Amino acid sequence: MNPVTSSILHRLVNQDSFVSGGELCRELGITRSAVWKHVAHLREAGYVIEAVSGRGYRLAGLTGAPVAEEVQPLLDTQSFGRSFVYLETADSTNLHARSLARAGSAEGTTVVADSQTGGRGRMRRAWLSPPGVNLYCSIVLRPPVPTVRVPEIPLVAAAAIHEALEAECPGLRAFIKWPNDLLSGGRKLCGILCEMESEPDFTHFVVVGFGVNVNLDPVPDELRDIATSLCIETGAACSRARILAAVLNRFERRYTEWLKSSDLGFLLPVLERHAWLQGRQVRIEQFERSMTGTVTGLSPQGHLLLKGEDGSITAVNSGEAHLQSINDQKRPA
Ligand code: BTN
Repeated sequence: MNPVTSSILHRLVNQDSFVSGGELCRELGITRSAVWKHVAHLREAGYVIEAVSGRGYRLAGLTGAPVAEEVQPLLDTQSFGRSFVYLETADSTNLHARSLARAGSAEGTTVVADSQTGGRGRMRRAWLSPPGVNLYCSIVLRPPVPTVRVPEIPLVAAAAIHEALEAECPGLRAFIKWPNDLLSGGRKLCGILCEMESEPDFTHFVVVGFGVNVNLDPVPDELRDIATSLCIETGAACSRARILAAVLNRFERRYTEWLKSSDLGFLLPVLERHAWLQGRQVRIEQFERSMTGTVTGLSPQGHLLLKGEDGSITAVNSGEAHLQSINDQKRPA
């Protein structure tokens, strides 16, 4: 968005009543007809702006697009989302955030795209990233903790995103699927991809990327059995801006608590209460082996605790979990 158009939007978002054309001209150093042209651009982008002679302009409707002007007024964060990069199209927001992090950008720097041409998932899978409907976001973190603690971060993000989605979407029942997915009705609502650059004893940065299917409806045929969206699950379209702000607010709070803790112990009650796999028979696929057992919980380091047939407990630190029984695919709300 043109910087002057963006300033006008920012001004309108932050004021409930009318802003006079004269005020905008003075503040931005532009003419009345220029103000009118920028307002026309905003209307073309979907914003409902009332114009009343003698009073000025008033924003009557937001678009819900995850742009800084709509997201930042809803933030109560110190650093998350304060530096905000919005791209109409990115290759992958994770890649973009990584290059910003390498260039020194601050903790909390947030990269959002309306669509991705090379959205990436775990295990080198592609992440469906069409425009106008979903959230694709990556946040730069610089946690001053030993590198061994970094694998706990996806679970901190999963818990925070879960809290945000259930708070923003009345009627939604979502579950956290270890290590870093959110499901609803047995289908994927959100995926998280954390990538880090580190030395043995020092974490340079971590990029936490997440994709939330928000208003995607319908889900393309090839993904219909495995993916869903907030809109499909609740029957209502949601504002991507509100959801992103809720995620940033909660994620920063949970991340700050995590930094003050020595492990994930403080979050285990939340993670276990909403765990998709709790008490279930699963098969865990790792790169070169797989194992089966019943999930009994999580360790304070975020490892999945798997009880084998002989009763022994194994703490699994990575892998992809598959339910063993087809009857387990659905979980009661
Ligand atoms: C997964 O479930 O496999 C993880 C998916 C992560 C997708 C998000 S979308 C925003 C960010 N940019 C990417 O390229 N990937 C993550």
